[in-house]
Amino acid sequence: MMRYEELNTPSYIVQERKLKENLEILRRVREEAGCKILLAQKAFSMYRVYSLIAEYLDGTTASGIFEAKLAAEEFVREKAPVAFSVENAFRRNENEAEEEGSLPDLRKTPENHVFEPAYKNTEMRELCEICSHLYFNSLAQLEAHRSLWEPRQKAGDLEVALRINPEYSTQEGHAIYDPCAPGSRLGIRRSQMPEKLPEGVTGLHFHTLCEQGLEPLIETFRSVELRFASYLQEARFINLGGGHHITRPDYDVDGLISFVKEIKEKWQLEVYLEPGEAIALNAGTLITKVLDVIDTEDMPTLILDASAACHMPDVLEMPYTPPLFLAMKSGQEAYEEEQGQRVRKPETADEMVPAVCTAKTEAGKPTGASKGAWVRLASRTCLAGDVIGLYKLPAVPKVGDILTFGDMAIYSMVKNNTFNGMALPDIVLEHDREADDRFELVKRFGYQDFKERLS
Ligand SMILES: Cc1ncc(COP(=O)(O)O)c(C=O)c1O
Repeated sequence: MMRYEELNTPSYIVQERKLKENLEILRRVREEAGCKILLAQKAFSMYRVYSLIAEYLDGTTASGIFEAKLAAEEFVREKAPVAFSVENAFRRNENEAEEEGSLPDLRKTPENHVFEPAYKNTEMRELCEICSHLYFNSLAQLEAHRSLWEPRQKAGDLEVALRINPEYSTQEGHAIYDPCAPGSRLGIRRSQMPEKLPEGVTGLHFHTLCEQGLEPLIETFRSVELRFASYLQEARFINLGGGHHITRPDYDVDGLISFVKEIKEKWQLEVYLEPGEAIALNAGTLITKVLDVIDTEDMPTLILDASAACHMPDVLEMPYTPPLFLAMKSGQEAYEEEQGQRVRKPETADEMVPAVCTAKTEAGKPTGASKGAWVRLASRTCLAGDVIGLYKLPAVPKVGDILTFGDMAIYSMVKNNTFNGMALPDIVLEHDREADDRFELVKRFGYQDFKERLS
């Protein structure tokens, strides 16, 4: 165990307390709505905390064989009455008879779901051994692997579902994260569905949202009801995918609970949600050290030991500007507005003059709203665009200062890379207690980790 001052930079620090707060919200949804909730490992695979998550959720979903194996090995309930082994993993229904409609209790072996657009034969064999639910993206894939999954399905060890494409887009201008965007390969369109669900298929699945609230889910489900009603009648369960920002403070949690209940009652379906982000939303930070300060024409540019390209790739892919602790403002737009380079559309009648450059000091520097210093936070890689963002801070940080980025647990550790031979950040767990030495170094990566992935 370590104290904060002893931590290395860069480090991802995952806060157990915040994780538990998120999980409490999800547990409430699960219990009050009577649905099952899975951890989408693609967003957060810090398996050191899987046994904690397993106390709150029903299982995991995987994007392929590796995540499915990780869950089989690590997502175990410490208080499980039956010792975990791959052999007994998903013999759920034998001595665990549940009352019809009641929520299974969390002492049972966790469920292990997997969806991948296409599986290899060799993987399918193993997936059938370790998974409780398999999702197929096409009828061709379903049939190609039938000889492997069908015996397990008939024995009651496995459930099989089809991913459908609701053809209802709720994310304009965000095609990279929109499985309903034109040309999408994800999910079977209504026109390609057979008349009835194929033999052995008991579930339906859709995933269309990304960081969204309840309304887009309701709209999407209405579209599913319109197009896929007969399949909803035939199926035993439906998985509503991820992208639900359930643990964001403005999410309508009660609305979600009512909506899930409505689906269950109207269609007599078991309902699954498989959020990733919501589980570890705002539950992690990334600390980084200032290594140099370069004077550029517009503002000081700081070189950090963290990199957008290597340690927070979504900053460049999404793209977005991550929150920075103590920043007064952030973002290119805020900066341009303040400099008078961009005129913000007035939102109210008495806000007709943009709040920029209204007063200047004698030296020509903006005052008022412009107190503080703009800095560009960048990395020590060779990529010119490896810039995390523009931030206005109370003062320009100095070499050796530590900066803290927020919301760094999700889509960070799972996506990072060693481009330029950059070291991967340490992974640290901040335990939920008051002691100074509450920081556990879970993993430190070194040169060998870099070398191992190359040849
Ligand atoms: C099929 C599927 N399920 C769940 C998720 C998790 O989504 P999120 O992390 O946005 O909740 C994703 C994310 O891409 C996904 O593709």
